[in-house]
Amino acid sequence: MPKGRESGMPDDAYWQTFFNPECMVSRLDCAGDHDVVEFGCGYGTFTLPAAKSVTGRVLALDIDPEMVADTARKAVAEGLPNVCAQVRDFVADGSGVPEGAAGYVMLFNILHIERPVSLLQEARRALRPGGKAGIIHWRSDIQTPRGPSLEIRPTPDQCRAWGEAAGLEFVRLEPLCCCSWHWGLVMRRPG
Ligand SMILES: C[S@@+](CC[C@H](N)C(=O)[O-])C[C@H]1O[C@@H](n2cnc3c(N)ncnc32)[C@H](O)[C@@H]1O
Repeated sequence: MPKGRESGMPDDAYWQTFFNPECMVSRLDCAGDHDVVEFGCGYGTFTLPAAKSVTGRVLALDIDPEMVADTARKAVAEGLPNVCAQVRDFVADGSGVPEGAAGYVMLFNILHIERPVSLLQEARRALRPGGKAGIIHWRSDIQTPRGPSLEIRPTPDQCRAWGEAAGLEFVRLEPLCCCSWHWGLVMRRPG
């Protein structure tokens, strides 16, 4: 199974200019005494702040071995032994974690890929009851310097509906005042 559509990345330094990752991770309820699964870690932009905000492990998955190596290298450089970066095609093979193992999952800039509901079902399966999913994506109500084509760029309402179809419940929409180009959404596995 190939990389999801329009999932290529620009260079790392340029990508970092679009975000305030610490603020975004914190506003989307990542912090806590739990393990995290990140679907598509890319350069580890959000992996590292997530790892600093939880006591458990952050399993950072990506199909691209260079992204995984980069994330692992940064985690070592920052002294974060709780990052486990792994090459994995989570569309074809799932996350590989036992059901209910995670307290939080990250779906950041990924729900434009094919079959988002299947991905959200896998995210739900990975979450313990009451565990939360943080979702971000590029805004489509303004012009943005990057992001997938508007035809496949999901809106918050679409992601909420997909999440509900996958068995998650809505917690809140997070406008992300610390980031000009993105919106955030928090959902939860019922229970
Ligand atoms: C647009 S990037 C977002 C990266 C990161 N979440 C961020 O926001 O900085 C999407 C990432 O998902 C990865 N990806 C795409 N399809 C995948 C798949 N089927 N399995 C695992 N990773 C995938 C890509 O390699 C890419 O690194």
